[in-house]
Amino acid sequence: MRPRTLLPSISIFSAALALQPASPAPTPYTEPYRPQYHFTPARNWINDPNGLLYLNGTYHMFYQYNPGGVAHEAMSWGHATSQDLTHWDERPVALTARGFPGKNISEQFFSGSAVYDVDNSSGYGNGTGTDAPMVAMYTSFYVYGQTLPSGKKVRANQQSQSLAYSLDSGETWTTDDAANPILLQPPHPYESQYKEWRDPNVFWHAPTNKWILTTALSDLHKLLIYTSTDLKNWTLASEFGPYNAVGGVWECPNLFPLPVDNDESNVKWVAIIGLNPGGPPGTVGSGNQYILGQFNGTHFLPDAESLHGQGEANWLDHGPDFYAALVYNGLPEFQRTVVAWMSNWQYAEKVPTTVWRNAMTIPRRLGLKTINGKVLVVQEPEANWAAITSKPQTTRISSLPANSTRNLGSLGKTLAANLTFSAGEQNGSSFGISLLATQNFTTQTLIGYDFATQHIFVDRRASGNTSFDETFASVYRAPLEPADDGTVTLRIFADWSSVEVFGGQGETTLTAQVFPPEGATHARLFANGAEVEDVLLSVSKVGSIWN
Ligand code: FRU
Repeated sequence: MRPRTLLPSISIFSAALALQPASPAPTPYTEPYRPQYHFTPARNWINDPNGLLYLNGTYHMFYQYNPGGVAHEAMSWGHATSQDLTHWDERPVALTARGFPGKNISEQFFSGSAVYDVDNSSGYGNGTGTDAPMVAMYTSFYVYGQTLPSGKKVRANQQSQSLAYSLDSGETWTTDDAANPILLQPPHPYESQYKEWRDPNVFWHAPTNKWILTTALSDLHKLLIYTSTDLKNWTLASEFGPYNAVGGVWECPNLFPLPVDNDESNVKWVAIIGLNPGGPPGTVGSGNQYILGQFNGTHFLPDAESLHGQGEANWLDHGPDFYAALVYNGLPEFQRTVVAWMSNWQYAEKVPTTVWRNAMTIPRRLGLKTINGKVLVVQEPEANWAAITSKPQTTRISSLPANSTRNLGSLGKTLAANLTFSAGEQNGSSFGISLLATQNFTTQTLIGYDFATQHIFVDRRASGNTSFDETFASVYRAPLEPADDGTVTLRIFADWSSVEVFGGQGETTLTAQVFPPEGATHARLFANGAEVEDVLLSVSKVGSIWN
């Protein structure tokens, strides 16, 4: 969220919220800018993915949701499910801000995680196995000072950690009011009321037979790591940070293992930490960094190579619109699928959409790969593309002359493109694709590669509606070295209001929202400054997941 203001005026909104319908009216998913294959709720505001959990063949996605409008208010947990990480089904709101609708809101449900408590260690279930409970841990944001049903006293704007459970596969949830918040405040010496503390992320750690919890002490740039045997009683085990990027508050931590180069005898742990503001160089606002290391059940010990001078970081995505990334629980241990909020606190409340605001990224599979001697996080999109894409059209161009373009015609507004080309000997030149463009290319989004600096770029300066925020019309860059054979590969996913670029083997990604006009369906290749050789382009049209 915006770092300075912790929603001081929330209660003013509650009267207006009362006028909103409780269950959203259907929508055709064809409004201007509506993403066709990225998740958006039918109506209303979303931010962070929450409680990502795979259970019995279903991918659950909860998310920060305002059931009453398109602003960041009345934070609740919305819920959607998917069988294929492609099509999503919006379910009833899982946790509704206390007081909504119609009363002063007393507690908002901020970000958190969910686990399947298969042994019923929490005692919330009717048994183990198929009778076990889903348990969610979230941050209670108490809007005003109050004494809770548990007898605990909280101050206005206090952030504490709480539990809820579901016995019907996530359809309905019960908060543990007799005990909540189960973690009232951070330990000494951090209990001061000015400290922000949130976004509990829980996972099962088999080697120690314990639940592990990471939380962010946001403005101190620390993670607090706790252990538990029952999800209710937590012991502080260690602190981590500050490290690397500390330009804004730390939020939404994740901690999980992955094998390096698929070698399960060489496992590293990955910490992903949200940062707002202070994201990647060249962006304004939110971003996600990662740090590699080892986790021994109590401490996360960072690798020396993963630490940099203060302010430098390993960026999970180099674009402006990839935040609050969260990794699925419940999948096989080394299958790590991440979803991020495809927006930025810099302008999330101003983007020019109507009935909904903000979207999620494509779910992405994470891995660790040694590239040019360094272990890096690599990403590839998870969607079941076969279900929604047309047969690819392939174009081969042996050479595109300097300062020329090659028109590709009208490709539509939802497409998946693979672009491979030779980096050759070019100097001071760039090559790429212009898409989501009007016929005369006065409106366009440029995605390309700068040979001299070895950077991918996304240029959204002329991408359409950029006027709602003064920082939006910008160019974003991300480092990418050519492959050993001298080629560069860009996988590009364009939707009605976003582009996601995966470079190389997925070691560099760049995600950006764009708001092009209705007829912006045209595309062309461009070569600037020098000739470009051995171009291979393959383009598939992507269908709508909402049909
Ligand atoms: C991140 C965040 C979280 C917080 C939530 C509130 O985007 O600020 O730290 O829990 O949003 O909606």
